[in-house]
Amino acid sequence: MLETLDRLLIRKHRGCYLKYFSLIHEIEVKTIVEVGVFRGKNAEVLREEFPDANLYLIDPWAPSSTYLESGSAVSEKRVVYEKALERVEKLFKNDPNVTLIKKTGAEAAVEIPNNLDLVFIDANHAYSKVKQEILTWSEKVRPGGILSGHNYGRIRLAGVKKAVDELFEENFYLGQDEVWLHIKE
Ligand SMILES: C[S@@+](CC[C@H](N)C(=O)[O-])C[C@H]1O[C@@H](n2cnc3c(N)ncnc32)[C@H](O)[C@@H]1O
Repeated sequence: MLETLDRLLIRKHRGCYLKYFSLIHEIEVKTIVEVGVFRGKNAEVLREEFPDANLYLIDPWAPSSTYLESGSAVSEKRVVYEKALERVEKLFKNDPNVTLIKKTGAEAAVEIPNNLDLVFIDANHAYSKVKQEILTWSEKVRPGGILSGHNYGRIRLAGVKKAVDELFEENFYLGQDEVWLHIKE
């Protein structure tokens, strides 16, 4: 067990930290949602670390004005998103426990089961959007499950910290690779 925990911390990756956190808090993770997937870098790690989990990967994989205006967009070019989606489709084409949903988080939430074990939010990083995603997904996580996200403390993406601080006050954790985590009561 100690070797596993060391390995997870040494890699310094957000997906590894989510696994580490689930182990130290003894939270069973069988159903995971990632909101904002892009090229699937984190999704790959989540699959490695949680090999038996059902993974729902949500992203519109297209540039919208809302996203571009947030100042946090990974690209303005449609082709970049198309290539990113192709990569993710290829990565998971033989994995029956991965579901790709080409929608925004808010649109997709209605078709995702309730009582999720882990939700990772890494989509539109504008303050109002992070807040909206947290409120949406908070309803979908089971009591004792993990609601989390990326880029807490990144100066350029200050909306993440503002939204998390405001909604959770002291009731959240910070981990490596700019991850914030909250255990739902
Ligand atoms: C920073 S990238 C995600 C990186 C990924 N989580 C990782 O760690 O490998 C942000 C992604 O969020 C997506 N996105 C933007 N607005 C979104 C929304 N409202 N709902 C879901 N995804 C969104 C973008 O298309 C982009 O691919």
